Amino acid sequence: MEKILIIDFGGQYNQLIARRVRECSVYCEVKPCTTPLAELKAFEPIGIIFTGGPNSVYLDAAPHIDPEIFTWGVPILGICYGCQLMAQALGGEVVPAQDDSAREYGKTLTWYDTSCKLFQGLPAQGVSWMSHSDYMAKVPEGFTLTAHSDACPNVAIADEARGFYGVQYHPEVNHTQHGSDMIRNFLCKVCGSKGDWTMGDYKRTAIASLRQKIGTGKVLLALSGGVDSSVAAALLAEAVGSQLTCVFVDHGFMRLHEGDEVENAFAHWDINFVRVDAEERFLARLAGVSEPEGKRKIIGEEFIRVFEEESKKIGRVDFLAQGTIYPDVIESGAGDAAVIKSHHNVGGLPDYVDFKEIVEPLRMLFKDEVRQLGRELGLPEYLVSRQPFPGPGLAIRIIGELTKEKADTLRLADAIFREEMAKAGEDKKLNQFFAVLTDTRSVGVMGDYRTYDYTLALRAVTTSDFMTADWARIPYDLLDRVSGRIVNEVNGINRIVYDITSKPPATIEWE
Ligand code: XMP
Repeated sequence: MEKILIIDFGGQYNQLIARRVRECSVYCEVKPCTTPLAELKAFEPIGIIFTGGPNSVYLDAAPHIDPEIFTWGVPILGICYGCQLMAQALGGEVVPAQDDSAREYGKTLTWYDTSCKLFQGLPAQGVSWMSHSDYMAKVPEGFTLTAHSDACPNVAIADEARGFYGVQYHPEVNHTQHGSDMIRNFLCKVCGSKGDWTMGDYKRTAIASLRQKIGTGKVLLALSGGVDSSVAAALLAEAVGSQLTCVFVDHGFMRLHEGDEVENAFAHWDINFVRVDAEERFLARLAGVSEPEGKRKIIGEEFIRVFEEESKKIGRVDFLAQGTIYPDVIESGAGDAAVIKSHHNVGGLPDYVDFKEIVEPLRMLFKDEVRQLGRELGLPEYLVSRQPFPGPGLAIRIIGELTKEKADTLRLADAIFREEMAKAGEDKKLNQFFAVLTDTRSVGVMGDYRTYDYTLALRAVTTSDFMTADWARIPYDLLDRVSGRIVNEVNGINRIVYDITSKPPATIEWE
């Protein structure tokens, strides 16, 4: 398999570089710049990309690289810090830009030498995205200048004989025109990649290596029914079949038919599927609790307790499987941001289960690749393209105290909303939408009767990262259909409102 090695010098766009490479159907991995050369060599890449980074190469504390990498014979593309590092290591000189005009930030008009392999077939002029305050005062021997801007004569350098290329700008960000094509040129024209990596290949390799790692061992996985845990389960099911136990805890706050859907999706694999109907015990523990963080805490604790009991029944397991994905792995440092909502997930499980090792079969995949792998494994589309659903489920979409009746009411209303959104084709356009049962009751009239029932809120958002979100402008006619159906078909609701706040200042969920 053709592989590209991305060496991480701490730049903020490293994930994007990996995305761009994989978009060219070439497999890649990001490794820290402190990885020993022997390990990098064992990876057997056909090309290397040095990422950007926040440092200045001439400072003692700046990250460096074993100079032997330059005699290995593998082509290298250096981006920003990576370019300066390569220049300095090969005899050039990098200095702080004295003149403000030589420090470049943002969109910069750039001229490219299209005879250089990196720019072949692309326009000779375009905008590039710069972010550097250092300057290559001397270009190393053997290199030629292959791009320039008004302020800077050496925006890009190349030693084509050795396959070394450096660019001061960031080809991986969308602001750089034809940046992806430049990366593709590096992969195909310089490294000779065929760009034929497919998810089918990945599936086969992953299954073989899981079989090798797990041997005859027992594997345990907490299956939530979300995309990541479902795909991890399917991959393991395919690899080790009956050695896998999946524990699916139904806490009573799942969506309509969700438990059956998840169970059916795994029915054709010969695995040990444990479905725990724990509605009553969750409801009992949640009785009288209306504060959102209180609900989250109880559900998180109770989940661990149920899982622990189930895993004791199975006895000692060899591996605990988790659906960790690549962005979780390379997004280093969680920062000190204030906790707005504590998210319940299964991260705390390792302390409660007796096992030898953790196995994370999706560690190297981005979210959309996980979905693709799920399709490749034959999981149904409704599971694979599912929108995020919070761990505590409908419990945080019922404002105030929780009862089974309220959960049943919301389940029905939410199902109608989702059904109508799907019929109208709106479900594919939006990132998340759902119904919320408020604790407000108001007066209504139905037939000749006065009603005093609950208000239901509909929420629909578009977002790229769930950190910020816009309320979705869904058609009035659709809202009208949803409203009419819910009020007619679901007892206990006599008023529907649509949430028109973005995030911030609101959050996506109501609790
Ligand atoms: P907020 O409401 O914080 O939501 O804007 C952002 C995203 O996170 C999801 N969310 C949760 N996911 N456990 C989860 O697993 C939680 O407790 C939780 N709370 C919010 C939310 O659905 C949205 O996608």
